[in-house]
Amino acid sequence: MDKLLVRGGRRLSGELRISGAKNSALPILAATLLSAEPVTLRNVPHLHDVTTMIELLGCLGVEVIVDDEMNVEVLGGSLSGCRAPYEVVKTMRASFTVLGPLLARYGRAEVSLPGGCAIGSRPVDQHLKGLAALGANVVVDDGYVIADDGGGLKGARILMDVTTVGGTQNLMMAAALAQGTTVLENAAREPEIVDLAECLIAMGAHISGQGTDTISIEGVDELHGAQHRIMPDRVETGTYLIAVAATGGNVLIKHARPQTLDAVLIKLSEAGAVIEQGADWVSLSMSRGRPKAVDIRTAPHPGFPTDMQAQFLALNAIAEGTSRVTETIFENRFMHVPEINRLGANIALEGAKTAVIEGVAKLHGAPVMATDLRASFSLVIAGLVAEGETLIDRIYHIDRGYERIEEKLVQLGASVERIRGGRMDA
Ligand code: UD1
Repeated sequence: MDKLLVRGGRRLSGELRISGAKNSALPILAATLLSAEPVTLRNVPHLHDVTTMIELLGCLGVEVIVDDEMNVEVLGGSLSGCRAPYEVVKTMRASFTVLGPLLARYGRAEVSLPGGCAIGSRPVDQHLKGLAALGANVVVDDGYVIADDGGGLKGARILMDVTTVGGTQNLMMAAALAQGTTVLENAAREPEIVDLAECLIAMGAHISGQGTDTISIEGVDELHGAQHRIMPDRVETGTYLIAVAATGGNVLIKHARPQTLDAVLIKLSEAGAVIEQGADWVSLSMSRGRPKAVDIRTAPHPGFPTDMQAQFLALNAIAEGTSRVTETIFENRFMHVPEINRLGANIALEGAKTAVIEGVAKLHGAPVMATDLRASFSLVIAGLVAEGETLIDRIYHIDRGYERIEEKLVQLGASVERIRGGRMDA
């Protein structure tokens, strides 16, 4: 199992190019199932989760061509199957977003329940309730969601009880080929929803209201081929900004979309960073040696993203002052806390939802264990500021969501090495 060795104490500086967004690429790959014609996607990140989704499309009988630059062409044609097996869905929850497209195009779907995961139970009740409202017959049998379209999906008004990104995506895709108009209320407003809507519109769907909490979808008989460029990854952008801020450095990030991460930029400014931005770039430099402690409360977009919580907590760990970080989206998303404390941080949990962080002036390298995707990068950030060496185990979590992590960090002047199966790999 690969590990990452981080030698801390270097100030990061330089330029960085941001990759395409994982959380956009995955549902958009699922959306290609809606068309019999080829869909070409550009700026697809080269990540383990993307490979998993491409494999899943292969299982469903779809041919996919990937070139050297990760332009992905999904050839469409007819589907040969409608089953997304447990072995795939358990490794990547986003594969559950094939449910809506399969049902809409194939009339039937068998998709494994994603089950729980490290950060909480993560139910899919809103996905299933919404599909039933569109006329689908949905049962859960032996851990699989088995659904048929009840003779053809029909548009409906659906009020979602919780704001769910994946649920909104599944229902938008199913409604794109339903008969009549669907209105999703209390829909998620995340930028990745807008990106999916833009791809579907390029494929001929009639969608409006994306980016607000009410999305209208007027169903069409079929979708056609299209080209779409995946939006830049806002979580990757925010993560590197925080990493640079933690080391007291400066960075110019290109090919980004900073307007999708206002909440994070505001909090970084409060911490003492000087931020400048244009349409597709953002720069950060630390105006002070040590960041100021800043309170964080995660919330659905446009609130502070839960996917940036762990990284900001690492910044607070070395900040001047005391801060509180409150997680409101997932029930068990503080597994990085004991690991960061191993480096000498002073973080206490107050119940399951709040961490109280007494900033310390220094951290010291130690062996730590990555627990989930975003939490893993919080350990990298802590390792970058710590004195000495931090060895991070189980970094397969990081590889699910951060493209070429060592290369990008080294480009900024960090000392980071991947150790493969006990071997050093410079
Ligand atoms: C997506 C992102 C993930 C991010 C999360 C929240 C992808 C591939 N993943 O995950 O990185 O952390 O949004 O921004 O885009 N819920 C229900 N019932 C449901 C569905 C969700 O109760 O049917 C709850 C969940 O348990 C959770 C909350 O709603 O507490 C938000 O989950 P959701 O927005 O669905 O997250 P994902 O789409 O899985």
